[in-house]
Amino acid sequence: MLIKRRRGWELPEAAATPESVYLNRRQLLAAAGIGGAVLAASGATRPVLAQEVNYAPEDDPTADLYPVPRNTAFEGGRPLTSYEEAATYNNFYEYGSHKQIWGAAQDLQIRPWTVTFDGLVEEEQTVDIDTLIRAMPLEERVYRHRCVEAWAMTVPWSGFQMSHLIDYARPLSGARYVRMETFQDDEAPGFRQFWYPWPYVEGLTMEEANNELTFIVTGLYGHPVPKQNGAPLRLVTPWKYGFKSIKSLVRFTFTDERPIGFWEELQASEYGFWANVNPEVPHPRWSQAYERLLGTDERVPTQLYNGYGDYVAHMYTDVSPADEARLFM
Ligand code: MTE
Repeated sequence: MLIKRRRGWELPEAAATPESVYLNRRQLLAAAGIGGAVLAASGATRPVLAQEVNYAPEDDPTADLYPVPRNTAFEGGRPLTSYEEAATYNNFYEYGSHKQIWGAAQDLQIRPWTVTFDGLVEEEQTVDIDTLIRAMPLEERVYRHRCVEAWAMTVPWSGFQMSHLIDYARPLSGARYVRMETFQDDEAPGFRQFWYPWPYVEGLTMEEANNELTFIVTGLYGHPVPKQNGAPLRLVTPWKYGFKSIKSLVRFTFTDERPIGFWEELQASEYGFWANVNPEVPHPRWSQAYERLLGTDERVPTQLYNGYGDYVAHMYTDVSPADEARLFM
């Protein structure tokens, strides 16, 4: 998705994540104190199994809430991507425009953290993240995730259906969209890349935001969500390209105007508001017909709406011709 520099995903995967990098990651983990005890106990020669390393932030006061009950209505239909892959191959441009940002993202200060609900709401409110998370009915769901760059993963997210958050925010009937915003802190290196339209913004229609599938993530793999995956609060819309799944949220604004997302603002000819997955609509610069599974590198055919059409297709049967032309970008 890099517009001005070479695109990381165009590197062959062997170049992007050679084995030596995995080994270095483990050394880094040990140095950072994350998973260090596991390494010490496991001995130098035994390979560390992915699920043994806990990437969850050490400073997360909600850790006692996990694991949360699994909602078996949402199974991924594919083998799970390892925790290690999901937590060490990331897009989080606030920490750099490449995939290995997980180390840098540890600098993200996730407490104190507040979330604001404003715009067309009964009453504007700013709530402490721990109060908010503890007020929500947490569950675990396994979802497939399809990045616009044509890589994919399948992971167990913890969190809650976004409809509960909307009830909490109490929007007015005139609200047609919800605009979401990521933190902006000049300490994070990405903000020095001034050509990006910070802060990262995304939006959904109210109907999409209230869809059963739309999930607000607070955890991953039975632990609080790692910083690199969008701690402490992140959106997941599994039928849309991954750039819609905005991380580290601080603001939800209810509005009657369609929000312009970060990538749409940067390059509207390539990234739009809807961003629904469709194998038959190529990105202007690459095909979307197949996807590469993180971990195994297996190439599998991409599915319309990432296979979630039964939940979401009805929302797109009655859109304007102008929107219809942009439903899949
Ligand atoms: N949210 C913010 N704030 N910044 C980002 O750069 N990248 C998006 C999305 N959310 C991004 C973001 C993209 S392009 C993808 S594919 C997913 O996060 C990646 O999520 P993951 O790193 O947890 O796999």
